[in-house]
Amino acid sequence: MIVKSNIIAEKFNRFYFSKKNNTENELSASYTHYLHNRNIIESNAYRDCVLEYIKKINNIGSSQNPISNKVAEEALQYISCEFKSAVPFPAHKKYQFKFIDLFAGIGGIRLAFQNLKGKCVFSSEWDKFSKLTYEANFGEVPFGDITKPEVKNYIPNGFDVLCAGFPCQSFSIAGKRGGFEDTRGTLFFDVAEIIKQKQPKAFFLENVKGLKSHDKGNTLRTILNTLRNDLNYYVPEPKIINAKDFGVPQNRERIFIVGFRKDLEIDSFKYPKELNKEVKLSDVLEKDEVSVKYYLSTTYLETLRKHKARHINKGNGFGYEILSNDGIANAVVCGGMGRERNLIVDNKLTNFVPVTKITGKVNREGVRKMTPREWARLQGFPDNFKIVVSDAQAYKQFGNSVAIPAIQATAELIIRKLIG
Ligand SMILES: C[S@@+](CC[C@H](N)C(=O)[O-])C[C@H]1O[C@@H](n2cnc3c(N)ncnc32)[C@H](O)[C@@H]1O
Repeated sequence: MIVKSNIIAEKFNRFYFSKKNNTENELSASYTHYLHNRNIIESNAYRDCVLEYIKKINNIGSSQNPISNKVAEEALQYISCEFKSAVPFPAHKKYQFKFIDLFAGIGGIRLAFQNLKGKCVFSSEWDKFSKLTYEANFGEVPFGDITKPEVKNYIPNGFDVLCAGFPCQSFSIAGKRGGFEDTRGTLFFDVAEIIKQKQPKAFFLENVKGLKSHDKGNTLRTILNTLRNDLNYYVPEPKIINAKDFGVPQNRERIFIVGFRKDLEIDSFKYPKELNKEVKLSDVLEKDEVSVKYYLSTTYLETLRKHKARHINKGNGFGYEILSNDGIANAVVCGGMGRERNLIVDNKLTNFVPVTKITGKVNREGVRKMTPREWARLQGFPDNFKIVVSDAQAYKQFGNSVAIPAIQATAELIIRKLIG
């Protein structure tokens, strides 16, 4: 029996690794979630999915002699024993609380909570490139579209904190009371539904600053009404927090919403105090020489300047800005022209770049884009965070992500309330 299970396990592994790049596949998510969570009771949903696959793969071509549950279980045990996760941010073996990571992106919120000895027991993200980055760093493939009931079914019971940086959308609340039912069809509704069903001890929600004034304040009002009155959580007034106050040179304001289940009798919460630590761009700039590809060509720089000059009075510039190394960056934003927003002057290079390296086309002022690694640092990602995607995707992913130190400072206070 054991020999048979080993053969089956190897066959499954071969199948799995041949499909590994298919991060759309619920198998990758179930398998990696299972491997990380197999010793805790909540991992049953993932285990059932992997067992089904083991049986399916091994039964192909041998439908007369399908393998039993017992053999599949043994094969799974064998696979689990072999599992070693060689990633920069593996899950803790000993952890103090469990959390889930919704709208996970590349795991900025996960890193903050994991740094505090949290164990992530479920993640969901539907963008395939973000999933690649997530897997490379955490060894886990997030599940996909969180609005789908079959994805929600994988969420285990009994986790402590729900984390979600959900996209901001309007609610249709005309003439209604502005609560749970009125949020139907939006991603906040899915978050609220999960809170209602799973009853985590606490939640941490993150959003753009504009949520506060969105739809004349109705959106935030509805969110708070739902969380406080329909879901019965203690939710202190949300706070707008700036990343620059927590040790990274980036002016990024985001709204944080925190809540605690009422039966825990937590009736006060203070958001973290600013650190008063002076930070500047030069703290995050690459120390080594940066590839010439990040330097703008003279022609491009000229075009940007002309375009900016033309539109500056209409408030419709190209969105780029040449920053001083002694200052701080504006919020990094994802996609499109956002890439060029934070340009810097790399004084080092202007002084000594070998003539051979600088073609006539590269500007001699030393104006360059910040590199993806510099954007990662602006968001407080450690340097061992792997960047495994193209530059274009990396800018998008870091721009979409969060400033980890601000999240972690808030998360620390949440966890302190929960476990002292
Ligand atoms: C603002 S970003 C969150 C970034 C994340 N907190 C981080 O640290 O990288 C929102 C993310 O939600 C994802 N998303 C949007 N709708 C989704 C859905 N229905 N299911 C799963 N992910 C979704 C987007 O792809 C995006 O990466």
